[in-house]
Parts: sequence; C-alpha cells; structure tokens
Amino acid sequence: MEKFVIEGGMPLKGEIKVSGSKNATLPILAATLLTDGVCEIRNVPKLRDTMTMCKLLRTLGKTVEIAGNKVTISGSANTHVADYKLVSTMRGSFCVLGPLLAKLGKANVSMPGGCVIGVRPIDLHLKGILALGAKADFEGGNVIASAPKLKGSQMYLGGTFGSSVLATANVMSAACLALGETIIECAACEPEIEDLGIFLNSMGAKIQGHGTPRVVIHGVKKLNGTSYKMSSDRIEAGTFLLMAAAAKSDILVKEANYDHLWALNDKLTSIGVDVKKDGHDIRVRCKKTLKPANIVTHPHPGFPTDLQAQYMALMAITPGVSIITDRVFPDRFMHIAELNRMGAQIRRDSGSAIVEGVKHLYGAPVMASDLRASAALVIAGLVAKGKTEIYRIYHLDRGYETLDQKLIQIGAKVFREKE
Ligand code: EPZ
Repeated sequence: MEKFVIEGGMPLKGEIKVSGSKNATLPILAATLLTDGVCEIRNVPKLRDTMTMCKLLRTLGKTVEIAGNKVTISGSANTHVADYKLVSTMRGSFCVLGPLLAKLGKANVSMPGGCVIGVRPIDLHLKGILALGAKADFEGGNVIASAPKLKGSQMYLGGTFGSSVLATANVMSAACLALGETIIECAACEPEIEDLGIFLNSMGAKIQGHGTPRVVIHGVKKLNGTSYKMSSDRIEAGTFLLMAAAAKSDILVKEANYDHLWALNDKLTSIGVDVKKDGHDIRVRCKKTLKPANIVTHPHPGFPTDLQAQYMALMAITPGVSIITDRVFPDRFMHIAELNRMGAQIRRDSGSAIVEGVKHLYGAPVMASDLRASAALVIAGLVAKGKTEIYRIYHLDRGYETLDQKLIQIGAKVFREKE
C-alpha cells in the first residue's frame, strides 16, 4: 500500500485543473448497457472507481477500450449477473441494476455493503424498479430483479434523507426502455443526474426535467450508441477551493463550473474568501483571517455532503466556533479523530461536530478512511506545521486523479511513497 508524505506550510500558487466527474461517469458508464451501439466517452477520469466500473462492464460482456481519458464501449451484455467481487468494492456499481433490468429483462446485483460514511440502504432503488413493474427478490446478499417488459408509472423517490442520486440514476436509466411514460417525483437534482439525462438523450432517450425534482421519461424501443464528453468534477473543484482558502493562497481552478458550486461559493464568500467565476474557471484568493460559519449539508442545491469533511478541515484552523451537521450521512465524521490527532479541537455533540478553530495544526501520521475524509487530511497536511503521513491513500485514488502531481504543480511538497 502507499502513503502520502506532505511537508506543510508551503505557499500554494498557480493553476490546478479539474478532471472529469467521477460521480457522473459511473452511472453514464452503466447506462451504456442500454445499447449494443458504440459509446465513445471522453474526459473520463482515470480513477480506481471508474476503472472498476470498466472491469464490471467487461464481465457483463461489453467490449471496453481505454485510451487515456477516452473510453469506447461496444457489444452486448451477455449476462445479467454483476460480479460480486467488483460490486462489493464500490457501492456506485449498484447503478448497473436499472440498465441490466431494462436491457436483459433481469438483473442479479449484490447489495452494496455499508461503509465508513454510514449505512447505504437501497429501498428507494427497489421502490423505483417495482414501480416500473419489476419483481425483486433477495438471495445470498444479491438483489434478483426481473421484468419481461418494464412499464412506465409515476412514483415518489424521496426518502428519510431526501432524494437519492443513484436511485434516481437507476430508475431514469431503466425507464428509457419502459413502455409509456414515467414520472419521478423528488428526483435527485445533482449535476451528475443532469449529465446522465443529457447522455441518455444523446442515445435517443426522451427525458425532460433531468436536474430538477420532477423528471419525465417517455420510453422508446431502442437506444443507440453516442459520443459524449464528461463535464468536470464539482467535488474535486470544491476540494481545491477549500484547499486554497485553508492555505491562504491565490489559485486558478481550471475547468471548474461555478454554477455547480453555488452553496459552497456562497459560504466561502460569507466567511471572507474571494471566489470569482473566470470564464470556464474559478479564481480563488484568500489572504486574510476568515470568520467561522456553520453548515448543514443537504441534497443539491444544498451544501454537498461530499465537501463536508474538507470544509471541516478549513474550519479547524479558522479562529472561532463552527457547527457542522450532515443531514445526508449523519455519521459521516470519521475524519474528526484524524484531524484531532493533528491538533484540531473538534467534538461530536448531539449529531453535529463542534469545531473550535486553532492557530495551527501539526503534522502527524494519520489514516485515510473514506474518499472525502482523506481529502480533508490532505488539506490539513498542506497547512500543518511539519510533516504529515497519510496512510491507505488508495481511498484518495478512488476519486482524485493524480492528486499528488496536481498539488506539486502549485507548490505543494507531496510525496507518494510505499507504506
Ligand atoms: C451518491 O451516492 C454519491 N456517489 C456519493 O458520493 C454522495 O455522497 C451521495 O450521492 C449523496 O450526494 C456516487 O454518485 C457514486 P444517495 P448515493 O442515494 O447515490 C439515503 C463520494 O464521496 N438512501 O443520494 O449512494 C442514503 O442513506 C460518494 O463521491 C436511502 O435512504 O447516495 C443517504 O442518507 C460518497 N435509500 C441519502 O439517501 C436508498 O435507497 C442520500 O444517498 C438510497 C439512499
């Protein structure tokens, strides 16, 4: 296994480029199961998770050619059984359920286990496919779904925590080949769902309202191959904005879509960070002491849960007290213990994290846990006094493409070493 060794306190300056969106790429790769045509997808981030999805598509019978950040997928799925070993390594691969069911009339996909950010239920996924007329059983930890022909219907896909991104993706994809009209109420509005809708329509689907709470899909007989360019990763972009604020630096975040990050940009502006749209990029400048501010995460367009840990790292060194609450994954606080090892003053109190900003963090050996908690530790390591070693950085490699190389280009001292 590998670790990052970071010498903290280096001034950061210059340009950092955002890769294609991981969380848009996964459901879009899965959606290629809906056609036997050739799908050419560009600006695909080369990450553990996207490569795992490519492997999964190959086990399902698709031909997958990878050339740099371009993936070309062709051929027909010849089995409806998704490989347990691959699905169990990445919860996101559950989004092959809808496409397999729609294309082959059946699907056998292992249930996503829990993970460090909390329980990952699938009740909304099942509610959606049952509403389309499928049958679903459980056997040996797998969901076994079948439907000779899916039929469109109107359904409500909101759960205890609001809308579900991948449940919306599964149902929206499956409904493309269903008979008649499907209406999804309380659909996820994340930009990744908007991306998926644009991709499916480029294959010949008839979808309206993707990216809004009400999505209408008119089923078609067949979908065709297409050529598509992934949009940039808003969570990676937001991570870089928070990193620039913590390091009091002046950074141009290239290929960052300002309109995907209003909740973060509004919060950063309110605490004293200068964040400005600059064409297709975002310029972030932060030279002064910031003010603390509370956040509560919500489904899009609320503050993203995937930026909560990174925001906590910024608040850890901002004088004053801030309260951080995650309404999407209420227990997504694995990063607190590791940040406290670096001198942060953070405690849990009735479901929230109370952060008392300190003057400095201090380098220490810390353990990466989930993808975004690991990003928070990188931010902390960049601003801490001394050396930080972050172990198990395979968590980071799941969602950040060549992060060490990108950080070195703006002046950071980051070394990838064998543990
Ligand atoms: C997607 O996961 C993202 N993953 C997550 O990003 C992200 O944190 C999450 O959306 C929320 O934005 C991918 O897109 C691959 P949800 P997803 O279903 O779709 C509850 C990262 O770091 N829920 O929107 O699995 C669930 O427990 C990852 O890149 C149900 O109750 O998340 C949670 O509380 C981590 N029933 C809330 O909904 C269900 O059937 C939102 O989860 C499904 C979900």
